Amino acid sequence: MIELFAGDNMDVLPGLAVGRFDLIYIDPPFNTGKAQRRASITTRRDPAGDRIGFLGERYRTTQTGSHQYADTFNDYLAFLTPRLREAHRLLAPTGSLFVHLDYREVHYVKVRLDEIFGRDCFQNEIIWAYDYGARATRKWPTKHDTILWYTKDPTEYTFRLDEVDRIPYMAPELVGPEKAARGKTPTDTWWHTIVSPTGKEKTGYPTQKPLGILERIVKVHSAPGAQLCDFFAGSGSFGDAADRHGRDVLLIDSNPEAIDVMRRRFAARDLRVAPPLARPA
Ligand SMILES: C[S@@+](CC[C@H](N)C(=O)[O-])C[C@H]1O[C@@H](n2cnc3c(N)ncnc32)[C@H](O)[C@@H]1O
Repeated sequence: MIELFAGDNMDVLPGLAVGRFDLIYIDPPFNTGKAQRRASITTRRDPAGDRIGFLGERYRTTQTGSHQYADTFNDYLAFLTPRLREAHRLLAPTGSLFVHLDYREVHYVKVRLDEIFGRDCFQNEIIWAYDYGARATRKWPTKHDTILWYTKDPTEYTFRLDEVDRIPYMAPELVGPEKAARGKTPTDTWWHTIVSPTGKEKTGYPTQKPLGILERIVKVHSAPGAQLCDFFAGSGSFGDAADRHGRDVLLIDSNPEAIDVMRRRFAARDLRVAPPLARPA
């Protein structure tokens, strides 16, 4: 079941029971200093069109909509810290928190998470590496995000490595045909393409994360029937991954455009939509 709350996550989280979730994934705004915008377009074949596509055919582009949210914070840690404390409170004893960030804020947030969880509960810094879009020419192009994994308990936690998707060996000829056919388990560096701007997965919501990354987290770090949460849900990619694998998930977002996107995305699923809970006195 997917439960969807429209509102500020701090209007919802404090009202939830301690230890409610087995797995929390969050992808907060990255503090890029700009509004995050994404236009949705459709294309159709037209000899006078503005784009050249497959086999040199011309296509006309029409903008069908656009989505955006603000991404500027004067004091990012002051915004995030109470939400990270809530995540810690809401995790079950064997639960995990995944925090998805980029190079701008990850180091500051790592230090704060060490304070909240304890350094011994830090398990991995996962690098999601992609290679898409423009390349800087005056510094190394930044083509990775960082996902920090913390557990509520330093040693007792869910890690189902048998469930992970296997990846090809870089030099299959060195390991023999049987091993090469089975592939190997990933390391803490995950190569995965971004959501294709023309693919089926695309919702048009800015900063949408790929299902492949989130399905890996869901399958390895929770069991079927587990209770999951993403309180910066955006287009609902984590909720989609959770639902595809039989987990219950609570999704929260304060942007009405995100709520619209998720209502459409999950229209054919077991979806409950609620207004924000009242802030406890
Ligand atoms: C980086 S996007 C999440 C993208 C998402 N992971 C996806 O794959 O589509 C961050 C989201 O956090 C939401 N947000 C920002 N501040 C919030 C708050 N205080 N409460 C709830 N949602 C918030 C924004 O509206 C935005 O949709």
